Amino acid sequence: MLEKITVVGAGHVGETLAIQLAKEGLARQVVVVDILEGIPQGKALDMFESGPVDGFDTQVIGTNSYAEAKDSELVVITAGVPRKPGMSRDDLLATNADIVRSVAEGVRKACPKAIVIVVSNPLDVMCYVTKETTKFPANRVFGMAGVLDTARFRTFIAERLKVSVEDIQTLVLGGHGDTMVPLTSYTCISGIPLTQFLDQQEIDGLIERTRKGGAEIVGYLKTGSAYYAPSAAVVQMVKAIVQDKKRILPCAAWMEGQYGIKDTYLGVPCKLGRGGIEQIVEVQLTDDERAALNKSAEHVRSTIAALKELKR
Ligand code: APR
Repeated sequence: MLEKITVVGAGHVGETLAIQLAKEGLARQVVVVDILEGIPQGKALDMFESGPVDGFDTQVIGTNSYAEAKDSELVVITAGVPRKPGMSRDDLLATNADIVRSVAEGVRKACPKAIVIVVSNPLDVMCYVTKETTKFPANRVFGMAGVLDTARFRTFIAERLKVSVEDIQTLVLGGHGDTMVPLTSYTCISGIPLTQFLDQQEIDGLIERTRKGGAEIVGYLKTGSAYYAPSAAVVQMVKAIVQDKKRILPCAAWMEGQYGIKDTYLGVPCKLGRGGIEQIVEVQLTDDERAALNKSAEHVRSTIAALKELKR
């Protein structure tokens, strides 16, 4: 258990995440920071009061300042605007970059030793903004996307094969967007390759649905984007860190030459423990997979470049 975890953003993702962190007993205090006056305070108090019923002692505190967040060991950034139908994650670039920059500045001052998990979109670029602003080392600034993308792929495979989601292992690499790279060669059902169950055409259909998984939900909600699966994915990452589990989970990580890629964030398998990202695991890729990963990296790089242009 940590002393303090801070969640920035008390919207759909932030509030769903905060209550789960409290229920899981992952910290003595969960602090929820938002700019809206009264909203984080009211939501946090309501969560805190569910403790006696749900059986947790975690204190949940809502605030508009970073004073209560001081010295948090872990911070999750969910502040920002979500997508509306027809928007890509990249359409959020300018607005969310300003928001995430101001949040990261607050985190840098109040929580200089924190591990920071970024959720705001466009994810890979918001990780970059956070790292540039906090100047924290790369092992302490990374993003949640791969766990969510793999969860979506696993859901669709399980639904199609009528088997338990628990028995499906898979890996989705690349940026969090249309260029993500679901790896069929690392997808199996209790060790049995997916290709023994489905032909390539059907697999391609599931991959396409995974790529568009976020947009499918935005299409239904109209006024916002997904939050149950995203916050569940963050909880899994937080648990791996707090309990020093050394789990191998796909995260948006700062690339320093792994897979021949550098100077960008990209989704890759990472070992997560108390040190944050303790290792980036390099898996063998086919030529096609490598080309797709390079293309995805190029897309993230070009969005980072577009952001730099905006700042001029
Ligand atoms: N500091 C703190 N909180 C902020 C700031 C800021 N500078 N700017 C905005 N917020 C808050 C809003 O007040 C709101 O409560 O962020 C919250 C965002 O909540 P929602 O609009 O419900 O969005 P949500 O669905 O939670 O998504 C948040 O996560 O998955 C991504 O694409 C999604 O970028 C989006 C982010």
